[in-house]
Amino acid sequence: MEHNTQQSKDSTSRRSFLRKGLAVGGAGAIGAGLLANGLPAFAEVASGGLTPGDAAILRFLSAAEILETDLWQQYNELGGIQDSEVSGGSGSKLYTQALQVLDGDMPQYIHDNTEDEISHFTFINAYLVSKGVDPANLDRFRTLPSSKATGAQQIGRLTNLMQLTVDTSYWTKYRSRTKNPDFGDTFPPAIPGLLQGQFPAIPRSDADLHPKDHIQAIANTAGFHFAFIEQGGTSLYPSLAQRVTGPEVLRILLSIGPTETMHFQTWHDKAGNAPALTDPTNGLVFPDLNAAPFGGEDFQTNLIMPEPTVFLSRTFPAVSIIRPTQIAGSGGAVGTVKAWTADGLFIGQSREFLAVLNQLAEAADAARRG
Ligand SMILES: [Fe+2]
Repeated sequence: MEHNTQQSKDSTSRRSFLRKGLAVGGAGAIGAGLLANGLPAFAEVASGGLTPGDAAILRFLSAAEILETDLWQQYNELGGIQDSEVSGGSGSKLYTQALQVLDGDMPQYIHDNTEDEISHFTFINAYLVSKGVDPANLDRFRTLPSSKATGAQQIGRLTNLMQLTVDTSYWTKYRSRTKNPDFGDTFPPAIPGLLQGQFPAIPRSDADLHPKDHIQAIANTAGFHFAFIEQGGTSLYPSLAQRVTGPEVLRILLSIGPTETMHFQTWHDKAGNAPALTDPTNGLVFPDLNAAPFGGEDFQTNLIMPEPTVFLSRTFPAVSIIRPTQIAGSGGAVGTVKAWTADGLFIGQSREFLAVLNQLAEAADAARRG
């Protein structure tokens, strides 16, 4: 059996890191700023019926959902539907029109994805509070600037959508029949140019609304970024679910996680409609994925359902699955933070923010089924 052995090695080093952290700073220092009433993040005793591991998993997921909400809110203000369900902003007509080249329903989908994320963190935090455990709260890190484009609110943000380096390897990862990231396999990006620079996914100001191919390149970048974000959630929930102890907490993860997959599949489909073009302002190329040197099963744009691939052991028959689903590598909480950091989402954020987020992620990944 060809199992990946990385997991146990990584978990051991994480555990010893946490032990050291506890010895040096005490439990309170680890969740600094997030645990308002000083409840220890790694208490020995279960709190309010939640094991410490389950609380850590839920608290990280809530933080991740808060971050998703922050970025989706920015997309919705400029390119979605602003209403009582998702308020804020007044829309950017030319950006919205460029998004609608990918699908006429893009504003509705952006609105609904935003509302889903709001409901995810609101529910998880309410559940934590009901168990007597502190919720996640990142409010003091809302320091990043808003877009100056007409339609955006001028408020502090947690995430940066204006300097993204989008990894589109999810495209080939879900089309491969022989590879799986849980085996250490790597995948080429669909849009190589998006990995070679920093690109806006929303107009930074009204100056970004022209020329036409520039605002279309920004909308295309958003289209591929939507799927990047949601494929992360698609792997995060099943990865962490394997570490949950309580049946009710497991039910929460198994009920929220697949909605991330619904988002991913929708965005995967829409990204395939992004028109081939070159941004005249920076040379960013969106190639025709159905033509050479792309084309074929690894790139064709109507292949939006997962190809069966290797799972658990290469000796088993190929199976259609979510990938990765292992904590080690890119599937777990630490892997998610790493991928979002490399994406440029946190450019401009303080070192303290990254430290707090990584501590929450380490704690979630360190959880074990009781
Ligand atoms: Fe979510």
